[in-house]
Amino acid sequence: MGACHAVSVSLTINGTRHDIASDLDTPLVYVLRDELKLKGTKFGCGLEQCGACAVMVEGKAVLSCVTPVEVFDGKEITTIEGIAETEIGQRVQRAFVEETAAQCGYCTPGLVVAAVALLENTPTPDSETTKRALTPHLCRCGSHPRVLKAIKRATTT
Ligand code: FES
Ligand code: FES
Repeated sequence: MGACHAVSVSLTINGTRHDIASDLDTPLVYVLRDELKLKGTKFGCGLEQCGACAVMVEGKAVLSCVTPVEVFDGKEITTIEGIAETEIGQRVQRAFVEETAAQCGYCTPGLVVAAVALLENTPTPDSETTKRALTPHLCRCGSHPRVLKAIKRATTT
């Protein structure tokens, strides 16, 4: 039986600092969903294979279902709940709605996070760059073509 390591980590989430006393090995997604009740970040595969759990960490899209919360100590994290606070976030969310880029919507928070991270770093990405940014994300409903259109729309509106 493994030892249980208790640690305290400090995370800034959507602009608010949280001191979390959590198990060393707890993946970030559980802290977000279960401790902080930020349920917009989805748990899908738990294996870094689907993209549902993506959050922004220091401006980059990062999967949160495997990496222990300890690794994020001191970091600035934006979840889907905080994405709408930014101009790019609002633009991307509006474009997803206008292109009906969600069906069941389970993959959508992760894809919105990926799109915002992409556009923050590359305001007018070519289609190869956009596809590469979406590589970690699966959509079982087949919404990828509409997601690509939504990202294109978000770059031009
Ligand atoms: S739940 Fe994290 S990649 Fe699938
Ligand atoms: S819209 Fe259903 S999984 Fe993507």
